[in-house]
Order: sequence, then structure tokens, then C-alpha cells
Amino acid sequence: MSSKESAANEKIVLTGDRPTGRLHLGHYVGSIKNRLALQEKYGHCFYMVADVQALTDNAERPEKVRKNVLEVALDNLAVGLDPKRTTFFIQSQIPEIAELTIFFLNLVTLARLRRNPTVKNEMKQKGFGENVPAGFLAYPVSQAADILFCGSNLIPVGEDQLPVIEQVNEIAAKFNSIYGSTFRKVEPLLSETPRLVGIDGGAKAGKSLGNAIYLADPAKEIEAKVMMMYTDPGHVHVKDPGKVKGNVVFAYLDAFDPDKEAVKELKRQYERGGLGDIVIKKRLIEVLDHLLSPIRERREKLAENPNRVMEILHEGSRTVRIAAKETMAKVRKAVRIDYFG
Ligand code: TRP
Repeated sequence: MSSKESAANEKIVLTGDRPTGRLHLGHYVGSIKNRLALQEKYGHCFYMVADVQALTDNAERPEKVRKNVLEVALDNLAVGLDPKRTTFFIQSQIPEIAELTIFFLNLVTLARLRRNPTVKNEMKQKGFGENVPAGFLAYPVSQAADILFCGSNLIPVGEDQLPVIEQVNEIAAKFNSIYGSTFRKVEPLLSETPRLVGIDGGAKAGKSLGNAIYLADPAKEIEAKVMMMYTDPGHVHVKDPGKVKGNVVFAYLDAFDPDKEAVKELKRQYERGGLGDIVIKKRLIEVLDHLLSPIRERREKLAENPNRVMEILHEGSRTVRIAAKETMAKVRKAVRIDYFG
């Protein structure tokens, strides 16, 4: 392979979170686990705190967004993203992303934005109706800029983000066809568990739905949340046969218990009858404690020195900006607005 070809095939990983709240187990299985694996595999990745995107539906709550920049950075550091291998940066500190968004906005129609299933769903959830902020409707366009400005092409995301990545590729293809080949195709990377149910059995665990277990939850709280989990309302006595399908405890054991065989056996017992909810809940509490205790400890330690975390973000933002300027020079030339060289 020539060096040009290998550069064209090189994988550059980028992920991001909106700083609107702490991260939960849905994020962990949906994307964070893959972030860690990719950091091991490719050695170099980008992690972006998407504060500009968070403001698209929090314009009136700037303090909330600002406060959560630190929280999501802490979550990602605590799970093991390593600033030496993953460049942490803040979206708003890269003005080239905003600049690139402006040019991309000309390449999508309002009708196409309104049809994006991810945006449609979120609009419904947030109750926007016709009064959707234009910036929110257009967030897939700015997400295209987030991804393409640094040449990234492998994006670990939850299932709900797939239509956004599809639209990113449409935008890149349209740009390339009009202005000449500039951006590469982007691949989403889905996890084995792209969607985690809420503890109440709701379709999705979510920050806004109040039905999630957070990475930073104290052990007592995790225990209480598991004890509240929806199981099978028909499973009244221990001896009764119980349902595994739709049973939240089993959904979480499937996602987090490393001993798949043991889980299989528990399911058989549960379906046969003779296995109480308490037993499976106790097991899940143990499994989650094993996963989350070290994360919680690292997080508490990191949180003692917030300035250090902000410095990691500052440093990363400075590094990333160099690449951003190079991309924008290319884009200006392609769009024929490089008047003064
Ligand atoms: N939209 C993503 C979310 O809500 C966050 C995000 C913003 C993102 N820009 C990104 C994710 C770029 C991956 C790549 O979770």
C-alpha cells in the first residue's frame, strides 16, 4: 500500500457528549465501552465536549451547560479515556467548526432536516412542535462539521445517532461533488448493546427521563435503583414461572454480567419457576458494583482537582485547533473564497 493509500484508509476516531448531565449506563454500553476499545486499538482518538450542540436546546440555560462540561469530562476520564491517547477538547473553542457548519448548511434542505428520525424523535420528546430552534433542527449539520473538520471517520455512537451519521455522509458527499474531493466517508460503530432499557422498563434509559443509573451514583443509590427495577408483574411467588423477555434485570445482566453461561442458567431457572427476583437483583447489584466502584473512586479523585481537568480540555482544544485551521484553509480554497491566499 502506498503511503497515500494508507493515509486514506487510516482510522481516526471521534466521539462526543452533550454536556447536559452526568453520563449513565446507557452511555457506557452504547458508546463509552467502544471508546475505550478504540483507544487501545488505534492509540489516537478525539473526545469532544459538545457544548455548542447542548446549547441548541439549552440556550436559556448556559449555566447548566457550563457546569456539565466538567461533569462529562470527569465521567470520560474516570472510565479510562487517557488524555495522552485521546485528545479532549471543547466544541465551542474551535470556531472553525462553526465556520464549516455555515457552508454545510447550504447543502441540506429544511425538508431533509425535518425528516431526520433522530431529530424528529428528540423534537417530540422535548415538545418543540413548530417552535423548534433552528440551531436544534440543524444540529446534524454542525455534527457533520464536528466529525469532518479533524478528518475523523470512525464514530462510536448509540443506535439513536445512526440517522445523524447517515446525514453527515450525505453532506460530505454533496460537498465533494460540488467543490472537489475533500472529505472522507464516515463509519458509525455500534456497540453490542446499542440501546439500554430504563430501570422502569421504558424503551431507553435517559438523562431527561429520570430512569437511569449514573456512572457516579453512590453504591447505595445503585442498590435502591436495582431493587426498583421492573421485572415480571406476573411473577408473584418465587415458585411461579417468570418471564425473561421485557425483564429489566435480565436486560442489564445481559449487558453487564461477564459470565454469559451463568446468566443463561439463571434465565432457565427463572422461566421454570423457583428463582426469586431478589436473587437476580442481588447478582446485578454485585455485577454493577464491580464495574462502577473503580470508576467512582477514580472520579472522586479527579474531581478534587477540577482545574487539572479544565487544563486537559484547554490543552486539547489548542492542539485540535491547528488541524481545524488546516481543514478550513482547504475548504476556503475549495469553495473559492480564498481571496487573499
Ligand atoms: N449528538 C451526540 C449525542 O447526543 C453528541 C455529539 C456531538 C457527537 N457531536 C458529535 C457524537 C460527534 C459523535 C460525534 O450524544
